[in-house]
Amino acid sequence: MIMSNKEQTLSIIKPDAVERNLDNEIKEIFKNNGFKILKEKKIQLEKIEAEKFYKIHETKPFYNDLCAYLSSAPIVVMVLEKENAVRSNRDLMGATNPNDAEEGTIRKKYGISIDKNSVHGSDSIENAKIEIDFFFKD
Ligand code: CMP
Repeated sequence: MIMSNKEQTLSIIKPDAVERNLDNEIKEIFKNNGFKILKEKKIQLEKIEAEKFYKIHETKPFYNDLCAYLSSAPIVVMVLEKENAVRSNRDLMGATNPNDAEEGTIRKKYGISIDKNSVHGSDSIENAKIEIDFFFKD
């Protein structure tokens, strides 16, 4: 029996990376690592939408700055598909803080700070579904 574990995850290329015109380069990295980009769009969020997206962080001290930042300039949101996409994307992104990220990861290569860490990726299969619906439910 052939077992396939294809999953989908949500990826965001954040303002710091889009501003530096790194979106195409980062998309190539995903493709070269076996991800299929099923959907994508370039948008700018209202702050209130960023607050809704990051609601799980609403009690954190960095919540307000985080939402202000995500809505400060255009972002690229994508649905990525691969086997074990959620885990695989998190490995490829590297640690949240670029200073802690391993060589070869996206955040190590492009991240500027813990806030301007270039990419977001869903942290669980459950959140991936919620985040994909947030951006792509029609
Ligand atoms: P992201 O994966 O988009 O999820 C929430 C974001 O909050 C995270 O990346 C960071 O950019 C940002 N952030 C800012 N400060 C912190 C912190 N102290 N711990 C975790 N995330 C933080």
